[in-house]
Amino acid sequence: MSTILITGASGGLAQEMVKLLQNDQLILLGRNKEKLVQLYGNHPQAELIEIDITDVQALEGLVAELYQRYGKIDVLINNAGYGIFEDFDKISNQDIHQMFEVNTFALMNLSRLVASRMKEMRKGYIINIVSMAGLIATAKSSLYSATKFAAIGFSNALRLELMPYGVYVTTVNPGPIRTGFFDQADPDGTYLKSVDRFLLEPDAVAQKIVKTIGKNKRELNLPILLNLAHKFYSLFPKLADKLAGETFNYK
Ligand SMILES: NC(=O)c1ccc[n+]([C@@H]2O[C@H](COP(=O)([O-])OP(=O)(O)OC[C@H]3O[C@@H](n4cnc5c(N)ncnc54)[C@H](OP(=O)(O)O)[C@@H]3O)[C@@H](O)[C@H]2O)c1
Repeated sequence: MSTILITGASGGLAQEMVKLLQNDQLILLGRNKEKLVQLYGNHPQAELIEIDITDVQALEGLVAELYQRYGKIDVLINNAGYGIFEDFDKISNQDIHQMFEVNTFALMNLSRLVASRMKEMRKGYIINIVSMAGLIATAKSSLYSATKFAAIGFSNALRLELMPYGVYVTTVNPGPIRTGFFDQADPDGTYLKSVDRFLLEPDAVAQKIVKTIGKNKRELNLPILLNLAHKFYSLFPKLADKLAGETFNYK
């Protein structure tokens, strides 16, 4: 039985992952305990923890305590994250700092705290749920993309540092998924409507993520079409900008 820690556990993708992880010891982190209890009160082995993951001291205390009680964390899934799809000049300085705190700094801090223990134990898996927006930047996702590009850069370096210790880092970069993410990212639903036919279903994404556990998988880019678009973007950035700014400008 693996001990698996998941952040942002009340979200759509996390809920689908939890459904597939019924035989593991889960440690589920969220901002609201009641919500966690409502969702997972019946799970046979889930510890539900209310925490603000942007509070570094609280995170440090929690990780120390978890290692005292469980002795190990086999898998860390950094899943918490949110987006705001908006013109950059309409985004506040507070938004910039807050989104980096959640999407990037918390992911880095928790990875740092858990990775140092995994390194000592010479085993472990860190799965960072990032985004296709961390590989391809598009208009109105400047802030979200910046947080996710940073998370990918961090993860890529971490992967190299940890590999000699038998600790593996996977980045998961999905395109749009049908979850509550868009309630905040796209409150008027314009973007969601225009990409409806491309939307990934959270259960299908969760299945693919859970399958990477225990494997030395570098990255999981979904769907195939967007993975190809990402390769194209890397090879032909100027043409990709033209297409992203005109034909495929959905936001
Ligand atoms: N949906 C998509 O289209 C999509 C595409 C690519 C990548 N992603 C990424 O996938 C991950 C999971 O997202 P999801 O689709 O499952 O969305 P979701 O349903 O909104 O869940 C995300 C979870 O992140 C946590 N969170 C959100 N805002 C937060 C904040 N300000 N501070 C702390 N925690 C916060 C929340 O968990 P608690 O309420 O439990 O704290 C929330 O339930 C995110 O990192 C997201 O960026 C999503």
